[in-house]
Amino acid sequence: MSDLISIRDLDKAAIEKLLASAEKMEQNLFTMHDTFKGKVAATLFFEPSTRTHLSFQTAAQRLGMSVVPYYHASSSSSKGESLKDTLKIVDGYADILVIRHPLEGSARWAAEVAQHPLVNAGDGGNQHPTQTLIDLFAIQKAKSKIKGLNVQLVGDLKHARVMRSLVYALGMFGANISLAAPVGLEMDPVIVKETEERFGAKISQTSKLDLADSDVVYVCRIQKERFSDPYAASKLQASFRISPELIKAAKEGMILMHPLPKLDEIPPEVDASPHAYYFQQARCGVPVRMAVLSYCMKG
Ligand code: NCD
Repeated sequence: MSDLISIRDLDKAAIEKLLASAEKMEQNLFTMHDTFKGKVAATLFFEPSTRTHLSFQTAAQRLGMSVVPYYHASSSSSKGESLKDTLKIVDGYADILVIRHPLEGSARWAAEVAQHPLVNAGDGGNQHPTQTLIDLFAIQKAKSKIKGLNVQLVGDLKHARVMRSLVYALGMFGANISLAAPVGLEMDPVIVKETEERFGAKISQTSKLDLADSDVVYVCRIQKERFSDPYAASKLQASFRISPELIKAAKEGMILMHPLPKLDEIPPEVDASPHAYYFQQARCGVPVRMAVLSYCMKG
């Protein structure tokens, strides 16, 4: 059995295997499998979630597992119980744990407490490895490759865990990466340097939005909950938008991705654009998470 805490836990061969397994899962997506019949998955969410929580629950059930969901607001941790105690209890009930928690590093620590395999569904601004697998799967589905594509990551690159995980994987798969963030929300230079040095990636950075050269534009919202000053976050949110005018300059076939939820950074008019790909991207959540749960259960 294995944990999945960071995208760095997987090498290229392991990711390729997971994507191939997700493809198989997708072919029979609306079938109930009995692969893990009698097993129980616990989903522990200490932060809000729609897609991640629901797609993990759906994936576990499609694999034949039962699901016990934990919601922070209605649980004993809101009475002050420690995370360690909660984890020990849930680990005694379930065969696999999926956790989302606002503290960076919490998932790695939780995996040491739990005996059963554990999947990180987002630890603060640090990592979101299963979202990255969904993103790679969705890119491959639309473009039949990742290597050599011009991929632009746009938005709050300082706080978004999806971007921190994704930039590393894009480097591993040989994409040409460019980063566009409002001034002050640039990606941590340590992560940029790591991706460049480890994979020989060339990463360009800008604070101006220009979509003209991109095959993939991947946008995320300003991560307001990670700001000490919510007013500063709102101001930035209004300043960095993918307007319908901006999209006009895009290449034919450019795909516009977003992990969702999207707010002002992509106005609703853009949903009708042939470039908008985020709803298809979100649909990849269930097959990819079925592949991840199988991988972690089997090792
Ligand atoms: C992302 C997250 O929670 O990090 N959402 C998701 O998992 N699909 C992105 C976000 O909240 O901005």
